[in-house]
Amino acid sequence: MKLKEKLLECQQSQSALLATNFYNFETLRGVLEAAKAMNSPIILQLTRSSIEYMGLENAIGMGKEGLKYYNVEGWIHLDHGDSIDLVEKCLHAGFDSVMIDGSELPMEENIELARKVVNLSKPFDVNVEAELGYVAKLGQDAGKVEYTRPEDVKYFVDETWIDALAVAIGTAHGFYKETPKLDFKRLAAIRKATNVKLVLHGGSGVPDDSIRRAIQNGICKVNVATEIKDTFMKNLKQTLNTSDEIDLRKVFPHAILAVNKLIQTKLNLMH
Ligand code: 13P
Repeated sequence: MKLKEKLLECQQSQSALLATNFYNFETLRGVLEAAKAMNSPIILQLTRSSIEYMGLENAIGMGKEGLKYYNVEGWIHLDHGDSIDLVEKCLHAGFDSVMIDGSELPMEENIELARKVVNLSKPFDVNVEAELGYVAKLGQDAGKVEYTRPEDVKYFVDETWIDALAVAIGTAHGFYKETPKLDFKRLAAIRKATNVKLVLHGGSGVPDDSIRRAIQNGICKVNVATEIKDTFMKNLKQTLNTSDEIDLRKVFPHAILAVNKLIQTKLNLMH
């Protein structure tokens, strides 16, 4: 099934797909083992840095082959695409979904960029995501949030014809200093204003009940990245600190299992 159709199903049943970033074979394996164990679909996301680290063909190849190997329904998504050039490369490489992030641009420029991506994605029939409002990026002050204005949403969607929209309702990428408080009233108003699929970025560290409530209020894709890196690295460090093992096939499984467990808890929140 195409991702667009799956997201529509989720939207209609007030459920969501978990979208997880992966960085190497081990994090991919942790995520896929969780999806397999829960018999759950999953979106595998790649950012520019992960693509540059693994190589485009390697990265998508690993993702697609992994889905087949574990017999998991899933899709490969470009997360925070920052240029037309990168989007084009990903489309040609076989991505099922692309995000173009013009969230830091003035509204009209964001529209123009998103519209370009929608047009060039048409022959590929993929899901196109954009962002309106601003969710603080990794390393930026979590206070750097520009909430999505419900009154802008219909205009943005009508002008761009995007399939999915990342909304700023109080989350931020990376770690939070304080527990984030999501603006559910705003989310409900956005949902009322449009039928576009709504995406929650910055899922790491958001309390479980807030994730559930966001899904009940119209979110149908939830992005989680930082917690995967954090869980993997903390567990890996623990192993390295307590053993001199050099057989890396014995070193990584502890961290892979921790990612697996983390993702299972997140998948539990999706419906
Ligand atoms: P976190 O890293 O905060 O989980 O955010 C993930 C994300 O939104 C990727 O686009």
